[in-house]
Amino acid sequence: MRKAAVGTAVVCAATACAVSVLIVRRRMRNSCRWARAEAILKELEEKCATPIGKLRQVADAMTMEMHAGLASEGGSKLKMLITYVDNLPTGDEKGLFYALDLGGTNFRVIRVQLGGKELGVIKQEAEEVSIPPHLMIGSSNELFDFIAAEVARFISSESEEFQLPTGRQRELGFTFSFPVRQTSLSSGTLIKWTKGFSIDETVGEDVVSELTKAIDRQGLDLRVAALVNDTVGTLAGGRFYDKDVVAAVILGTGTNAAYVERVHAIPKWHGLFPNSGEMVINMEWGNFRSSHLPLTDYDDSLDAESLNPGEQIFEKLVSGMYLGEILRRVLLKLAEEAFLFGDTVPPKLRIPFILRTPHMSSMHEDTSSDLHVVASKFKDVLGITGTALKTRKMVVDLCNIISSRAARLSAAGIAGILKKQGREFTLERQRTVIALDGGLFEHYTLFRKSLESTLAEILGNEVAPFVVVIHANDGSGLGAALIAASNSQYSELEVS
Ligand SMILES: *[C@@H]1O[C@H](CO)[C@@H](O)[C@H](O)[C@H]1NC(C)=O
Repeated sequence: MRKAAVGTAVVCAATACAVSVLIVRRRMRNSCRWARAEAILKELEEKCATPIGKLRQVADAMTMEMHAGLASEGGSKLKMLITYVDNLPTGDEKGLFYALDLGGTNFRVIRVQLGGKELGVIKQEAEEVSIPPHLMIGSSNELFDFIAAEVARFISSESEEFQLPTGRQRELGFTFSFPVRQTSLSSGTLIKWTKGFSIDETVGEDVVSELTKAIDRQGLDLRVAALVNDTVGTLAGGRFYDKDVVAAVILGTGTNAAYVERVHAIPKWHGLFPNSGEMVINMEWGNFRSSHLPLTDYDDSLDAESLNPGEQIFEKLVSGMYLGEILRRVLLKLAEEAFLFGDTVPPKLRIPFILRTPHMSSMHEDTSSDLHVVASKFKDVLGITGTALKTRKMVVDLCNIISSRAARLSAAGIAGILKKQGREFTLERQRTVIALDGGLFEHYTLFRKSLESTLAEILGNEVAPFVVVIHANDGSGLGAALIAASNSQYSELEVS
């Protein structure tokens, strides 16, 4: 308590508001606290500022890094991975296809009956299965046998509405959301498990052949036709519905982007000539970094204390995993230096990641006059009660600063992709669509609005009307089935 009072006195002197006398000491102290809090807010606002000039620099840096990453292996922080997807769905695909979407403690199996140009998706069904915890740290065979058995069960429960022409093999697209080194459209070696999985024997193995062996052990006649990242699936899903989709961006817990590149613009590509002259590139843009990014001390310490310091800097500024945590760090500073929540720091405020981005979005979007959503989140999540209205208003301001920065930088990243594709020129009035997915984009309305308006702002009045952002629902699931369809071993037959 004494220490706090001394600290306050120092702060007061520093902010030049220690003017008055002992009688009004308490009021004084409060106004000093508030002045310090406002100074912290103002500093954050300045450091996070993303004026249009800065966003253009970020977009240009993204474009440059894309070039560098395509030129050579390791040429950039952006990996710019060749996905071997050179045949995106057109919407004309026909037949029954499957997807397996494995990206965490749950996986999904999907079947979709495609009816060609006229009918599109005739029927789609999905089932979600959670993986027993012991299998996440068990043996490779056990895990893949469990998955294959569930796939077999799913297939055996099929109604007549789903039709596989006689004599044909079932085909499946595999969305595997773990780091993989892709070696062909339907093969890739596991670099490492993440998200709580730890099965050493799978590392360095081809995940498709692990899955295929397990499928064979089930006695199932099923071909794994494609191995895709969720971002690539989202691009395929978007393209199926809208032929003008040229890029996909995931803004969820993490962030990533994939886009369509002309093959001759990929110097590091030494493979065979692909079918179409186009190739989907998985940018792994979460790892983007640039001196133009508006980083604060909060970001630096978040990064330094993270599991992967120095990596995924763009992701740490932009994605849902981190926005709430950045806010917590600012609130902690306000508690420690401006005593915004009383003479002591509320203990929960010291717990990393306690404040999640969904909490932040509901506080940010609190339209009530007394900001009671902010008050209730503070109580429920942080154990802080009795905040003043002006404090709650400040919290909304903080949410706005942190989420606007993220949304505006995401828009700059997208502008960088469009620039790389040569689609930012006014002369080429070509409709261009970006497919977006992920919880942050889907559920944080103010984030989404800011992203959309900022993209228009960067592109300018001439170009903006031709660029459309769509929400590609569940690309990561359906998208893989669609890639399996557009790369089906029977697709030649279908055309004739
Ligand atoms: C694919 O997606 C996941 C999660 O979205 C990511 O962690 C992974 O590193 C991605 N990339 C590759 C090359 O596998």
